[in-house]
Amino acid sequence: MKKIILTGDRPSGKLHLGHYVGSLKNRIALQNTNEYEMFILIADLQALTDNAYNPVKVTKSVIDITLDYLSCGIDPSKVSIVIQSQIPALYELPMLFSNLVTVSRLKRNPTVKSEINQKDFATSLPVGFFTYPISQAADILAFGAHLVPVGLDQLPMLEQTREIAQSFNKTYNVDLFTMPKALSPENDAEGRLVGIDGKNKMSKSLNNCIYLSDSKEEVKKKVMSMYTDENHIKIEDPGKVEGNVVFQYLDIFAKDESFSTHLPNYNNLDELKEHYTKGGLGDVVLKKFLINILEDIIAPMREKRAYYEENIELVHNILKNGTDYAVNYTNKILNDAKKAVGINYFENWN
Ligand code: TRP
Repeated sequence: MKKIILTGDRPSGKLHLGHYVGSLKNRIALQNTNEYEMFILIADLQALTDNAYNPVKVTKSVIDITLDYLSCGIDPSKVSIVIQSQIPALYELPMLFSNLVTVSRLKRNPTVKSEINQKDFATSLPVGFFTYPISQAADILAFGAHLVPVGLDQLPMLEQTREIAQSFNKTYNVDLFTMPKALSPENDAEGRLVGIDGKNKMSKSLNNCIYLSDSKEEVKKKVMSMYTDENHIKIEDPGKVEGNVVFQYLDIFAKDESFSTHLPNYNNLDELKEHYTKGGLGDVVLKKFLINILEDIIAPMREKRAYYEENIELVHNILKNGTDYAVNYTNKILNDAKKAVGINYFENWN
């Protein structure tokens, strides 16, 4: 049997280049190995835990994010894209799991702790938000996921998920839930893209994103607005590579082929950096180069997105089919879980 991979996103806005570098690219690579059965969960219930009063933001993002997936190369013939809120097991399992988790354990979850601080929930913390690690455990365990690709910030979630799995298996004397493993970057810097402000990681709330759905003009404008080196005023001036936002992007996106295609006077990034450091290389050359490289990535996405937007019923079918499949898939584990607890009454009565 193929190993199972489950990944998830909160639908609370469209996806940006940071998502692409940090997770989407990796998902596409995993998908293309054909070695795994893979699910991508659109965690709308989780997004509602801090958007209950603004559900349209969430429901609209379900479609936006699906368009993002499809346009960047997630292939629905290889991966099931599933909507959390339509899967009964993801409501029922948390009810059973919540009895096995203490309030103090939840309070210690570092991911939730830091989110509570960020969101100013000191006196208005919704119960649903507080308990979302239990719901996320259900997401993972209901699919019997072996591997969960997540950022380092999500590692405490995986740890708590394993605790819940262990506790359930032990308490009800079954071997039902698989212990999931995180598939994470080696370190915090890997796969992390700075925003166009160069200061922080790319994030919607910081308004420093290049979105996968940005137009060519938007991409251009955003790259042109990036800081380079404030002391690099005249072209002849020597420039600094370190801390230069454009170079931070080039480090991630420029390949040797990018030079032969777009900047054939240089063989590679080292040569470009050398020239910049020495002086005589203008920022506009760098920025135009970066725009071309980003366009190589984003332009094909734009084309695919336009196709799916024109044929939105295809998108609806992909979500419906993926979710239907997931409902059946997770119902098996749900039924076994109920049986383990002994609450499968009607099964025994006929
Ligand atoms: N908590 C994840 C995030 O904020 C989203 C998510 C929900 C998830 N359910 C999941 C991730 C299950 C991995 C597995 O990005």
